[in-house]
Amino acid sequence: MPEHFSIRGAKGRTLSGKIAVCGAKNAALKGVAASILFRTPLTLTNVPEIEDVSRMLEILRTMGAQITFGEHQATIDARGLSETTLTPDIAKRLRASIVLTGPILARHGFVRFPHPGGCVIGERPIDLFIEGYKKMGAQVKQSGKFYDIRAQRGGLRGAELFFRLQSVTGTETFMMAAVLAKGRTVIKNAAMEPEIKWLADLLNASGAHISGAGTPTITIEGGDPLDAQGKSFRVIPDRIEAGSFLILGALAAKRLLIDEMVPEHIESLIEILSATGVKIVRGERSLSVSAPKRWQTLRSVSVRTHEYPGLATDLQAPLTVFMTQALGESLVFETIFEGRLSYIESLNRMGANIAMMDPHRVLVKGPTPLSGKQLESPDLRAGLAFVIAAVTAEGTSVIHNIYNIDRGYERIEERLRAIGVDIVRAN
Ligand code: EPU
Repeated sequence: MPEHFSIRGAKGRTLSGKIAVCGAKNAALKGVAASILFRTPLTLTNVPEIEDVSRMLEILRTMGAQITFGEHQATIDARGLSETTLTPDIAKRLRASIVLTGPILARHGFVRFPHPGGCVIGERPIDLFIEGYKKMGAQVKQSGKFYDIRAQRGGLRGAELFFRLQSVTGTETFMMAAVLAKGRTVIKNAAMEPEIKWLADLLNASGAHISGAGTPTITIEGGDPLDAQGKSFRVIPDRIEAGSFLILGALAAKRLLIDEMVPEHIESLIEILSATGVKIVRGERSLSVSAPKRWQTLRSVSVRTHEYPGLATDLQAPLTVFMTQALGESLVFETIFEGRLSYIESLNRMGANIAMMDPHRVLVKGPTPLSGKQLESPDLRAGLAFVIAAVTAEGTSVIHNIYNIDRGYERIEERLRAIGVDIVRAN
């Protein structure tokens, strides 16, 4: 029997205590992929023990890498990795596996992969990847379901790449490919997420020559395979987890301390919540938040998702839950993905008043009391948003399909129980 979460509403400002944020999924996954560029084993610490990380490690293991993983530390020795095909099975298991194509192509001169399958949050095309590889001198052939990308004799060549759209995995993939390419690569309109800067720092500390990561222009001078020089690399805190806890606290905590995080990474969320009337106290590596005594004092604001440092699309669903409890109308505009509002119907069943304007925009009218319901987690971010909605609601909610939540959040029910959430995992 698949597991589910059963959550009883918190009945006001009842949560309290401290919750520590885990390492970032979307940094750890790229760190694992980076190991392919190394001529030494690579050790990562503060690695979240979540399904997506296990799957990424398993993919590398099946492709020939030696791996140890436990107590939030992963050591990946990819020297023996010889496989150059990502099977549909692999690509389906984890969309982030697309980032493997860069390091594999750079190291072996060839990679074969299927078009990543459809995804619940939108189309997620790969045109930027195909165009980028061509610019680096590779030949792209499509045969059946697969793309065959072959570098020129002598390997990938540095190139000038301008991304029409700022793509997170695109930026990371080409930054890694360029590390082993011949000559200079410049990525313009690069994504600027903190995970990208972290990845560049890790690569630079191991012998890569990358400048500008964290800005829209990244320059990479190609060179030799990397050497970790016995160092280990600590994964940065998960800003999406931190932001989701902040929203939870703003709705249901007497006082909640969110610890081991980087406030600067969720500055845009802090500004938005502050504008609604939430009181947030900033520490150096923590935030403390309380729900207002009466929810009705929260004021709606309209928001739009944006590339970093704007509001992360991964925080859109939790923030929409928040807006159901604020007074007034909030227009939520999802600008990054077109399929990321499918959870709205479930919130309306819980009592929210949300009108779908078009595939990218919803109008939330609040405040509306929510009541516990049976829910299906559509993706990991909306899954955690349902957990927040269930805590806010009157009565009990049951959330199914929690594999989706486990993909991105470590032992979430244990950690939430410790701050007072009435949540159990059951079959
Ligand atoms: N895009 C294209 N062509 C491409 C690549 C992207 O049109 O070749 C479009 C996308 O369809 C989207 C936009 O560009 O409209 C930006 O997408 P991006 O490539 O930045 O998304 P991603 O790299 O596939 C990562 C995270 C997502 C996060 C987004 C946006 C990973 C593994 N995934 O996805 O995280 O939502 O950036 O910040 O890093 C999650 O963790 O739950 C998650 C979905």
